[in-house]
Amino acid sequence: MTFFWSSWITILSIMCWAAILGVLLMVLKYKPELEDDGTTGHAYDGIKEYDKPLPKWWLVIFFGSIVWAIAYWIFFPAIFPSKWDGLATVEVDGETVPWTSKNELYSELESNNKVFTDNFEKNILAKADASGATATLATLADMQATMRRSDNPPADLQTQIDQKVAELAPYVEKLSENPNALKVGSRLFLQNCAVCHGSNAKGALGYPNLTDNDWLYGGAPENILTTLHNGRVGGMAAWRDQIGEDGVRAVSEYVLSISGNQQGYDLDQTKVAQGEVIFNEPTNCVLCHGDDAKGMISTGAPNLTDDIWLYGGDRESIRETLRYGRAGVMPEWQTKLGNERIMLLAAYVYSLSDKPVNSAKAATATATTEAPAEATAN
Ligand code: HEC
Ligand code: HEC
Repeated sequence: MTFFWSSWITILSIMCWAAILGVLLMVLKYKPELEDDGTTGHAYDGIKEYDKPLPKWWLVIFFGSIVWAIAYWIFFPAIFPSKWDGLATVEVDGETVPWTSKNELYSELESNNKVFTDNFEKNILAKADASGATATLATLADMQATMRRSDNPPADLQTQIDQKVAELAPYVEKLSENPNALKVGSRLFLQNCAVCHGSNAKGALGYPNLTDNDWLYGGAPENILTTLHNGRVGGMAAWRDQIGEDGVRAVSEYVLSISGNQQGYDLDQTKVAQGEVIFNEPTNCVLCHGDDAKGMISTGAPNLTDDIWLYGGDRESIRETLRYGRAGVMPEWQTKLGNERIMLLAAYVYSLSDKPVNSAKAATATATTEAPAEATAN
């Protein structure tokens, strides 16, 4: 809090407190002169005023609140909040911190989350025969807390966190076969993911379909976990400045020729040939889309030889992609949802896709090196 607001609050509170105390003392001290009949001599419309003492209960409450205010200032960071943290504390992240309203909120979130986590461990992990995940989750949470707290975290901490996340993969696979876990996962999906990927997870222009077997970043449980934890940004640069509008047209024609888009375009073979040369320059398209143009998990570059398109596979859409570039953003969910909910979501997403026979291979190999092109083009 800035010094100004801190002082503002302090001065207002003290003034208000002093004014109330002052009024009370004044009233208690003031002794009017009484008439013989015990009244003050004031009469309004025939009603005479006595000088009776204030009721005890009322005085107790009044004094009580004046003392309460002082106690509040001592325990809560209310007077000079920029300097005084207050004596009272709450627990956040296993640490004892001052009882500010922000910390109070975090502390409440944490205890709500604990209810969820306990339930997750008892009713979901245990029943899906995946209790082994508990230890990994605990270590992961510790690492993440260290990361959050330190301004200058150790260089390899993020790598270690990523490794721990990957260790959850076998348990995600187990959860993906448990109906109860999938039910919770689907609810989480509707709340958090459906806005972009659609309530049936089939995606839309720019938002990938999660129910097929075509993956930008890999469809094995550990790929999905990584995608959800850290988020992804698709990086396809704009090419018009580099290869010119003619280059864009040529290379688009080449992309059409190798793609599974069978719209019966009359392809301009001269352009296809020119495009092929540009495409295969080692520092151009092959760098990310791969020598066979089938995409690469490490770059998130899609397979260009099938008929599954993120941004549209007609001639004009491909040209647009090349002219202006594309950068789809998948947000990170670690901060917002936490490790347990991400496991449930990953299990749900994994359960939706029609998995390849050797899904484990997809985790490491670049997209589809051995699958024949006909297998993916429907
Ligand atoms: C703001 C929109 C948005 C939201 C919300 C969102 N996503 Fe995404 N997601 C994207 C985009 C865009 C991509 C593709 C990124 C790219 O183009 O490189 C993506 C990619 C993915 C991928 C990788 C797909 C692949 O082919 O490898 C998965 C898995 C995924 N999202 C799951 C989820 C889940 C689960 C949620 C809910 C927790 C979610 N997304 C919420 C926009 C979103
Ligand atoms: C730096 C890596 C990189 C290079 C180089 C690159 N691309 Fe891409 N490309 C990507 C990524 C990543 C995406 C997905 C973008 C997204 O997810 O938003 C993409 C998307 C595309 C798409 C859209 C596919 C769809 O499904 O809609 C086309 C077409 C494409 N690239 C063609 C090319 C061509 C042709 C070249 C060479 C001129 C090229 N790319 C060079 C990384 C690259």
